[in-house]
Amino acid sequence: MNIVEIVNKKRWKQELTKEEIAYAINGYVEGTVQDYQMSSLLMAICLNGMTDEEVFSLTDVMYHSGEILDLSSIEGIKVDKHSTGGVGDKTTLILGPLVSSLGVNVAKMSGRGLGHTGGTIDKLESIPGFQTTMKLEDFKKQVDDIHFALVGQMGNLVPADKKIYALRDVTATVESIPLIASSIMSKKLASGADKIVLDIKVGEGALVKSVEDARTLASLMVKIGKKMNKEVICVLSNMDQPLGTHIGNVLEVEESIEFLKGNHTEDLYELVMTLGTLMVQMGLQIGEKEAKEKLEQNLQSGKGYQKLEEFVSRQGGDLSKIKSAPKVFSVKSIHSGYINKIHTLELGEIVRAIGAGRYQKEDSIDYGVGIVLSKKVGDFILKDEELLKIYVHEKDMEIGKILNCFEIGIHYEEPKPLIYEIVK
Ligand code: URA
Repeated sequence: MNIVEIVNKKRWKQELTKEEIAYAINGYVEGTVQDYQMSSLLMAICLNGMTDEEVFSLTDVMYHSGEILDLSSIEGIKVDKHSTGGVGDKTTLILGPLVSSLGVNVAKMSGRGLGHTGGTIDKLESIPGFQTTMKLEDFKKQVDDIHFALVGQMGNLVPADKKIYALRDVTATVESIPLIASSIMSKKLASGADKIVLDIKVGEGALVKSVEDARTLASLMVKIGKKMNKEVICVLSNMDQPLGTHIGNVLEVEESIEFLKGNHTEDLYELVMTLGTLMVQMGLQIGEKEAKEKLEQNLQSGKGYQKLEEFVSRQGGDLSKIKSAPKVFSVKSIHSGYINKIHTLELGEIVRAIGAGRYQKEDSIDYGVGIVLSKKVGDFILKDEELLKIYVHEKDMEIGKILNCFEIGIHYEEPKPLIYEIVK
């Protein structure tokens, strides 16, 4: 077998065998297959796609490329939730405590921000003292004790994805359904959960731009789950505007606290309830109505909030010490009308540029900066009324760039639904 023949086969749209896929992937991890050869194979996959059988093989080979977490000593079903990445998406900070307050085990590993999208680990590290690393034994004990632990990636899980993802990022091969499905599923399988809820973001601010592509990706990931004996449910949710109102690390922690204290925006509430109900159904093996009622009860009684406090202090953090940036500027609308569009990717890029995200892996983050929206898509705004607040350290801001992210018109346009569909 040789790599040139394998690339050539994919180039001519022929199906690769599992042995050929293993040869290419393992060779790349070991260094016998070079960057330029893997780039070529990835581009051929992007252009010509893969059969389901090829995607199963690719996922399986990646899944076995490193360590696999064994969480079997934790009693009960372990449920995981993963989002493909969006702007203002703080659902994990809310769902982890809320779902685990019902006794569902949430043993979760999360990532850092990627591009214009935020990451749960960065958000948690904005809480002074919070530890996002832990020994496996301590991680398991915490889940046994309080049903919830959340850390950054532990051990050498799926090294193939680490290396291939970095290459995809610089070779225009990120947006490929077989590559996204195998990348996400190999990591979810290796991190040891029994059941997985995937939130596939669709729209301007997301990796997947159309509902059709999201549906294809979802059914592929559900099929991979079935093949590997893991229940996977995908929720296709809208990312044409930021989720909730707060964007930026500390600000998103603040919005999550407020949510668990009972103050929430409609869109964030709808998504939390949709994903949370599925997690509780899976974790407690109960019906939809009962799961929803239980979630609602724990939200209203404050048990979700108490769990957040317990989880944060167990991992060394102190919620009373979080601090947003000291300078707050109010940005006003220059027109009256309906907010018809928010260019979410551009807005996410602005928040990244003021310091909430990274351009290089080693960049440090300014946790306190960000944006809080005063208006969302569908709202009416008057000229000179506040559109948003911006939290920064310096005064220099390109307000024009921010205003350009909003399309304001005289006619009302019906916003798209938040939840497109659920794929099981
Ligand atoms: N998230 C991942 O982990 N992998 C992808 O390929 C895309 C999003």
